[in-house]
Formats: sequence, C-alpha cells, structure tokens
Amino acid sequence: MKKILLTGDRPSGKLHLGHYVGSLQNRVKMQADYDSYIMIADVQALTDNFENPDIVQQSIYELAYDYLAIGIDPSIATIYIQSQIPEVAELTIYLMNLVTLSRLERNPTVKAELAQKGMTESIPVGFLCYPISQAADITAFGAEVIPVGEDQQPMIEQTNEIVRRFNRIYNTNILKECQAHIGINGRLPGIDGKNKASKSLGNAIFLSDEPAVVKEKVMSMFTDPNHLKVSDKGKVEGNVVFTYLDIFHQDKEEIADLKDGYRQGGVGDVSLKQMLCKDLDGLLAPIRERRAALSRAHIREILIDGTTRAQKKAQEMMQAVRNAMGINYFG
Ligand code: TRP
Repeated sequence: MKKILLTGDRPSGKLHLGHYVGSLQNRVKMQADYDSYIMIADVQALTDNFENPDIVQQSIYELAYDYLAIGIDPSIATIYIQSQIPEVAELTIYLMNLVTLSRLERNPTVKAELAQKGMTESIPVGFLCYPISQAADITAFGAEVIPVGEDQQPMIEQTNEIVRRFNRIYNTNILKECQAHIGINGRLPGIDGKNKASKSLGNAIFLSDEPAVVKEKVMSMFTDPNHLKVSDKGKVEGNVVFTYLDIFHQDKEEIADLKDGYRQGGVGDVSLKQMLCKDLDGLLAPIRERRAALSRAHIREILIDGTTRAQKKAQEMMQAVRNAMGINYFG
C-alpha cells in the first residue's frame, strides 16, 4: 500500500510562483508515488476571511483551475473541499483538548501571521486554533507526507506533538506522525526584493498572469540600485533577477558566467530580464494552455468526485478514532 500524501492551500486568491517553487512543483512530481490528497482549505481560509465568505467561495474555483493547470492529475490525486468533510471538524474538537493556549500562541507561523495582520490585541479563537484544525486535516487521512512551503514547518511539528499526545493518552497508534517535504529552492523573494513573494504584498507573479503582465513585472524587478549603466560593476547578492534565474534557468553554467560578467561590469539588467522572461514563459505557457482547456463544469465534477472519495476516507478513520477514545457508544 502506498503512503498517504496530503496538502492544501487556503482559497483566498490565486497561486503564484512562490507557491510553485515552495510546494506545487513537488506535489506534481510526487503525486503518483503516493495516495495523494489535495485539499482546498476553505475552513482555514475563513479563519481570517470570515467576514468575506464570497472571496473564499470564488477562490475555490480559482484554486482548482490552478491545480489542474499545473498538472495535478485528478485521476491520480484526490482534490477535495475541506468544509465538506465534517469528520475533520469533529476531530479538531477532540484534538483541542490536547493543546494548551500558550503552545498555540508560541507557534511561529501563527505569531508571524498575527503580526502581519495586526491582530495582536484581540485574537479570534478560530484563527488561533487553526494549527489544531490543520493537525486534524492531516491525521484524519492518516497522511505521512506533506509537501508544503517552509513557512509551514511549525504546523507539522505541532501536528506531530498532538499525534504523540493522542496516541499516548488513548493508548493507541492510530494517528500517524508526518513529515514536511519542502521545495529545494525554499523561499522565493518578491519582485520588489522583499524576502517573500506574497499576494498581500503585491509582489508576486501569478501562475495565471498573461505574458504581458509577466513581462511588466519582470521588467520592474529589483536589481542592484547602484547598477545604472551597463558598464557599471553590479551586485549579484540580493539581486532578484539573479535569484529567479538561479531557480528558473536550466543552464547553471551560463548563469555563473553571467554573474561574473555582472560583477565586473558589462552585463545589462535588461538583457538578464529578457532572459528571465523567456524562462518564465517556458514554464507558464503549458500551464496557460492547460488552463484554457478547462471548463467550470468539468472542475465541478472533479471536485464532487474528489470530495466524495475524501469523505469515505475520513469516515473510516473517524470510526477508528472514536473507538480508540471509547466514545463509540452505539457501536
Ligand atoms: N496552512 C496551509 C497554507 O496556508 C494550508 C493547509 C491547511 C494545509 N491544511 C493543511 C497544508 C494540511 C498541508 C496540510 O498554505
């Protein structure tokens, strides 16, 4: 039997190159080696969008389009919608007993998000608890392999703490520990040089951007502010164009030569940016093509089918969890 892979994204907008490098690329590569579940995490998206359910609702289809466009194959991987699996909500409640408030407040991912959203004074309970809900997402499926971006590592650690505690307290081994699989290129910086590409910072290239938009964004990329003339000596470190070329350009030797040339003077930003545009187009053109061939009706079928399969899987696991906890009163 194949091990179970599970991962997902919050439907709160379109996916971008940062997601691709951090996790999406890995999922496509790994999908056939595991029993794969890809979740549209609308419950989690609501924890910070509860006043705007329309954003979440609209983004569900956008996310599904993105998944299929990058090459997630619904005949191999099960794509499903989190809120439609009530067993996960049930498991979340049981797992809440095993986690302290201070442990949640110490979770680095939660801390960073609270700071970013300015939610330091009055923290909604639902938001604070989302690591527990994420632990339920993972354990309700018996998933052991979790392809995610590096910012999610603390979630996996917290999940494993919960798993160990649950299994010890209820004297079982029913919940499984899991492992994060993080993209080899780690974190992609934003086009403005900020250390993370993100939708809310407005510095990301989306997988669904048209070629003209990609070009415009690449042309506006942060390079070396002191590199004014082609003949000037330039800095490679912190130069976003080089960071992207390191990741997206196949010929690594060519990049090494260009870096030398740039440092010595004589290599222009525009020529590097044109090269990067070509590389990104090579990546994004097939994604665009696949997206154009998709219809909403087809995606709806895929989501219904995947969600039905996911429901079955979580139902089986929850029977076993209730048994382990001794709360399966009517057998
Ligand atoms: N927290 C993840 C994100 O923000 C989304 C997510 C929810 C997830 N549940 C998950 C990822 C379970 C992996 C496994 O991107």
